[in-house]
Amino acid sequence: MASLGEIEIFLRDLLISLQTAKLYGLGHRLFKDSLSPPYKSLQAVLAGRQTFTLGVIEGELAFEDQVISDAARLNLSPISYLKEKKIEKVTFLRGIEKRELDAFIGFLGAGKLEIKKEVQEYLMLAGVRNIVVGKLKAQVPPSQEEKGVGAVFVDSLHSVSQSLTNVLDGGSIDPLGLKLVMQGMMEGLINQSPELLKVSTMRRYDLGTSVHLLNVAILSMHLASKAGFSKDDVMDLGTAALFHDIGKLYISRKIIRKTEKLTDEEFDKIRSHALLGAELLLDYVDSLGILPVVVAFEHHLKYDLSGYPKVQNLKKPHVASLIVTICDVYDALFQKRSYKADYAPDTIYNIMLKEKGTSFEPELLEKFFQIMGVWPIGSLVYLSDERVALVKEENEDAILLPKVEVFYPVDKKEVIDLKEKNGQLSIARYINPWKEGKDILDAAGISLAK
Ligand SMILES: [Fe+2]
Ligand SMILES: [Fe+2]
Repeated sequence: MASLGEIEIFLRDLLISLQTAKLYGLGHRLFKDSLSPPYKSLQAVLAGRQTFTLGVIEGELAFEDQVISDAARLNLSPISYLKEKKIEKVTFLRGIEKRELDAFIGFLGAGKLEIKKEVQEYLMLAGVRNIVVGKLKAQVPPSQEEKGVGAVFVDSLHSVSQSLTNVLDGGSIDPLGLKLVMQGMMEGLINQSPELLKVSTMRRYDLGTSVHLLNVAILSMHLASKAGFSKDDVMDLGTAALFHDIGKLYISRKIIRKTEKLTDEEFDKIRSHALLGAELLLDYVDSLGILPVVVAFEHHLKYDLSGYPKVQNLKKPHVASLIVTICDVYDALFQKRSYKADYAPDTIYNIMLKEKGTSFEPELLEKFFQIMGVWPIGSLVYLSDERVALVKEENEDAILLPKVEVFYPVDKKEVIDLKEKNGQLSIARYINPWKEGKDILDAAGISLAK
């Protein structure tokens, strides 16, 4: 395993080579000579691993979850070269040849080249196979990128599924990649929160566990950041939320694939997912930290400790678990609707409110509905005047009266803040967009990205 020292040597050699390119040009003998040391030091870094990934996180160079502080102290760190080419993440694969690294350094050192192609495509054309570059939205094809946060969601889902699979298979995970996903979602929440929450509401109908996990992560991060947690804590919480049901995935993959009613024994097995998940995640404490273990273990404990697993000598669950519990139940109640119970958001609100102080920590539950509203962003609703609208934005001080966008009948379109209607207009009831709402949406020419 490469030590931070070896990585810093590589970064230093890389930087020297880049500076030589800048001073003398790519054709100069001194530049050509400068290419050997970085290749040699990269070999040392790659000696104990298959890949080595560097990322630019918040303006600093990072390896896995460690910020390489020395790199930032160098007065002209390789970061500026990566940034100039809009590279936010670079992975070197074991087996890389010297000519590949040379080509990459030449590319970085070439100054303000007019690059018409994607960087990766450019490198591929130069015969580079063992260096992969990316942005935060690396895997998103350009056509999807226009969809904005929808693409962030889909892209995150992809990375999340990959990390889950890796843990389930006992393989290693890419903590830096995961951190970039979290960062992307956090930026989405900060800059375009209504949009990201809308995507999350729409996707809540999917029954896939990855979607559930991602939704719980988004909701938890949203709640925590609104509750004033630090950025770092919010990202850690998001990561923990992503893995809360990993034990369930493990069980369903290995044992339960049946669709018939479960036996008591099978229910017990499902209940064991909390403990099992914590055990699985213990192997990843080095890369993910301890919080995912705690949250996987405690997320069914409930605020009054009446859930499972049965614990002794614990006064109350960790605040991260209390947050995840609320978001977990909320998302699960929503998902149910697509095959049986058909709970409307106001019903879910009432169900959860009944358990305030028992299942849920009272203040967090209040805060949750204050920021989510009773009708979450993206909900399709009938107004009391029988027009159809989509919920657009919450009013934190009037959780039943959000801003809505009327779109049907089509000649009566408008954006209305229900709070300002003094009781003249309100939400009458919820419409399931995949059932009765489908025809209305079709008629209005609106398609909900699935
Ligand atoms: Fe669970
Ligand atoms: Fe869950």
